[in-house]
Amino acid sequence: METKPKPRILSGMRPTGALHLGHLTGALDNWVRLQDSYDCFYSVVDYHALTTEYEDPSAIRANVIEVTLDWLAAGIDPAKSCVFIQSLVPQHAELHLLLSMTTPVSWLERVPTYKDVQANLKNRDLATYGFLGYPLLQTADIIIYKANAVPVGEDQAPHIEISREIVRRFNNFYGPIFPEPQTLLTPVPRTPGTDGRKMSKSYNNSILLKDTEADIRSKLKTMVTDPARQRKTDKGDPGKCPVFDLHKAFSTKETRDWATHGCTTAAIGCIECKSKLADHVVARIEPMRQKREELASRPDTVMDILKDGSARARKVAQATMDEVHRAMKIAY
Ligand code: TRP
Ligand code: SF4
Repeated sequence: METKPKPRILSGMRPTGALHLGHLTGALDNWVRLQDSYDCFYSVVDYHALTTEYEDPSAIRANVIEVTLDWLAAGIDPAKSCVFIQSLVPQHAELHLLLSMTTPVSWLERVPTYKDVQANLKNRDLATYGFLGYPLLQTADIIIYKANAVPVGEDQAPHIEISREIVRRFNNFYGPIFPEPQTLLTPVPRTPGTDGRKMSKSYNNSILLKDTEADIRSKLKTMVTDPARQRKTDKGDPGKCPVFDLHKAFSTKETRDWATHGCTTAAIGCIECKSKLADHVVARIEPMRQKREELASRPDTVMDILKDGSARARKVAQATMDEVHRAMKIAY
């Protein structure tokens, strides 16, 4: 009996180091779920890291391992999904080059992240060709596997949009080689860090997936709360409290109801509320941390998983490149 092939998805993360709760709620949980209904390709995109870290790439290799450990600990299963390193599939770089022949510079200049990231990373010189080409490389990542869809958060939507434009233009010149990738928009719940701003490595406000119970408890103790609730006798508003955003992501309904009631009637204090949140976060993270620790004691195994995945990815990518060569009349 013939079974219909599963639709294919691809997503990627830059190797920025150990992942935090925001990565879990905003991407990883979803990636894990998608494994059963899609043919999944998940890439650690080290070339993309170089677009901003080219002056000092010394952390990239270790960060590739860190990110992969967190993926595996969170439940990405290399038996189900192709987990690989972007630069171990150099076909991505070749396709990026060939796409650069047809892509107008103005399309890349008007991608919103181009000027935004340049403005946010003022200490780096991002007036480079590689940085301008970031969305083009991302397009190559996706279409080289002829992925049907890309699971990403809202912030990445413009990148998937431009990838469709690039595909349309390419297909117009050379024939229908690539499907237009769809955005599989991941709802990203607000996951604030301990200072109430978006959880982010650069803000130093993160709870990491590899944090121990003691780390988690002490970090959450310092977390900011509803600023109007100065004393325990003041009534609070969970809607104005970043701690409550984390309750929404990690606690049970029972605990959320307890926190809402206790906060709005001043029946509980913030310390109690945060300690209860810590129970739930620890319950969620601790099994991952243990799995991660076990994997981390065997770094060669992790690299082997990435190399196996990359070898599988190369086969698929090369088959696409053979088609591209023929279509672009450079098959010899
Ligand atoms: N730009 C993405 C990010 O910063 C990472 C990325 C690279 C990606 N290539 C991709 C995401 C392909 C989805 C598909 O998060
Ligand atoms: Fe926030 Fe909980 Fe304190 Fe209310 S009781 S302000 S929800 S930490």
